[in-house]
Amino acid sequence: MSEEALPFGEKYYPSLEEYKNLYARSVEDIESFWDERARELVWIKHWDQVLDESQPPFYRWFKGGVTNINLNALDRWIGTPYENKVAYHWEGEPGDRRTITYSELYREVNRFAWALREIVGVKPGDTVTIYLPMIPELPISMLAVTRIGGIHSVVFSGFSAWALADRILDARAKVLITADGFYRRGRVVELKKEADTALRIVAEKGFKVEKVVVVRRAGVDISWSEGINMWYHDLVKEAPEKAYVKPEPRKSDDVLFILYTSGTTGKPKGIMHSVGGYMTYVYNVFKWNWDPKPEDVFWTAADIGWITGHTYIVYGPLMHGETQIMYEGAPDYPKPDRIWAMIEKYGVTVFYTSPTLLRLLRKYGDNWVESHDLSSLRLLGTVGEPINPEVWRWYYTKVGGGKAPIVDTWWQTETGAAMISPAPGLALVPLKPGSATLPLPGIVADVLTADGRPAKPGEKGLLVVRRPWPGMLMGIWGDPDRYVKTYWSRFSRPEEGVWIYYPADYALRDEDGYFWLLGRADEVINVAGHRIGTIELEDAILAHPAVSEAAVVGGPDPVKGEVPVAFVVLREGYEPTPKLEEEVREVVRRLVGPIAVPSRIIFVEKLPKTRSGKIMRRIMIALLKGGEIGDTSTLEDPSAVEAVKKALAQS
Ligand code: WTA
Repeated sequence: MSEEALPFGEKYYPSLEEYKNLYARSVEDIESFWDERARELVWIKHWDQVLDESQPPFYRWFKGGVTNINLNALDRWIGTPYENKVAYHWEGEPGDRRTITYSELYREVNRFAWALREIVGVKPGDTVTIYLPMIPELPISMLAVTRIGGIHSVVFSGFSAWALADRILDARAKVLITADGFYRRGRVVELKKEADTALRIVAEKGFKVEKVVVVRRAGVDISWSEGINMWYHDLVKEAPEKAYVKPEPRKSDDVLFILYTSGTTGKPKGIMHSVGGYMTYVYNVFKWNWDPKPEDVFWTAADIGWITGHTYIVYGPLMHGETQIMYEGAPDYPKPDRIWAMIEKYGVTVFYTSPTLLRLLRKYGDNWVESHDLSSLRLLGTVGEPINPEVWRWYYTKVGGGKAPIVDTWWQTETGAAMISPAPGLALVPLKPGSATLPLPGIVADVLTADGRPAKPGEKGLLVVRRPWPGMLMGIWGDPDRYVKTYWSRFSRPEEGVWIYYPADYALRDEDGYFWLLGRADEVINVAGHRIGTIELEDAILAHPAVSEAAVVGGPDPVKGEVPVAFVVLREGYEPTPKLEEEVREVVRRLVGPIAVPSRIIFVEKLPKTRSGKIMRRIMIALLKGGEIGDTSTLEDPSAVEAVKKALAQS
């Protein structure tokens, strides 16, 4: 941890000391700090109160304010030189391309918004589930829904029908927007088929989605239900050529969108973000993170189905008039240099992605990256998990040519945008490979020990946030108790009026005050940068009739960081066979999705449990990683440890 700080950019940016002064001023009075920041944006009506703390932890930002995020992401560019600027350079996996300027984006959003309101019947406050691949109609749909005051719930197109059905049901979605199919590794993924299955599951549970809008992307045959299915292109054609839909005035503390993320139970959590708070936070953090310039070509290589895409492909960049790259397919298709070739072709200036993608691309060897001219890059970023210092160095030297600082951003679906990260738009602090550096302005982060005492420098503890921030989640859709329990009960002392946000991440702060994030502290694993709840996978595995018990833990993986490893106990009368193993994988693929399929299935006779019946996953983790098993005094049956050891040796 005593990494020598690398001195970047002093030539261009103010010093660490200046950053620390600026930060100190920001947290002295967060209300006036955010009040000024929010005034940089377009509002229909300004707020009466910056932060309403009357019902903690249900904090509300810019109370009384009225706006619509379209005003800042789209309408503000119309009638300015940005109108003809490219918003998205889109590239399909097969190599087909589309270029969409701000005025074209504006026109298309207006027409689709018109159709959604006038033909499909979406009203303010309705939820619309969007299950689309990485095609321009995805950001267009999100903007069209928020323009008319609807709430979008984007579901990652890699999720299965069952996962989609859960999310449609929980959100009570009135409308679903999907596509016929899309390209992945040279093949067509038939998305509409999954969507149809999801709708059947939903119908069996007594719920009906009123309309399904289908985008034609892959041109494959699909089944069609008359009166319910509608083609996207027909709808847009019906809208007047110059349709203008006035952005629906929304209260600052209305819900802008829901995005589901994994938690420690099988049921995904619908994270709700607010209209005014999210908009303000994302606008400012984007500026601090990337120091946007009019000539930028900005690329977040992630999927819009995750929060990273919501914030850094849709709302953040559009609010800054950035030109972006959007790519449909696999990052290493048809060859491992697809990403590098695209950076060169489009002259990308800022590139932001996950460590897992970097590890994958690095594995192919340096020739692939070295054969491209990447000198246009001025900033690099990472998100989603801790970056190993060796990968950091590779990224810095091979990709950035030793001149592009790395912006390592720590944040979560729940936080809206980055919370701890360098801020080259303000001042570039010296970087340390593997550290997300310092909290952003307005963010009061700290590290506590398990018993709630402030951790000493260098002491591992749990990350917390002590003051609300505008990008914070408003709550969990339909489950206020779970919101309080999950995020605000670990360290808060309500009787003293002390509320502390708990992200469930291990961290330490070094002597210079730099934060080092050390992985999840709950039963969530991080597979290739995607949050997956182990309980969700266990529930899926238990759906197989041969399985009596299952425990899923994160095993180490050189590329993906972590991979799910499943320990499975079979019911009487079943024997472990390769066929059964494949069936267990299949059940996870079907119920959760391909990203969650366990890399190893280990059949065991019994699982180590506490006397109160809680599965001791840490024992399996220790045996997998070869670490200390630690205290086993609460084990109900010590021979279970031997059983796991034996099974591991045989598998
Ligand atoms: C992890 C992704 C270390 C962390 C934006 C967090 C990170 C979870 C970093 C959120 C980082 C994210 N360094 N760990 N720079 N960024 N994480 O909700 O465990 O998909 O709690 O949001 O990813 O994952 P989520």
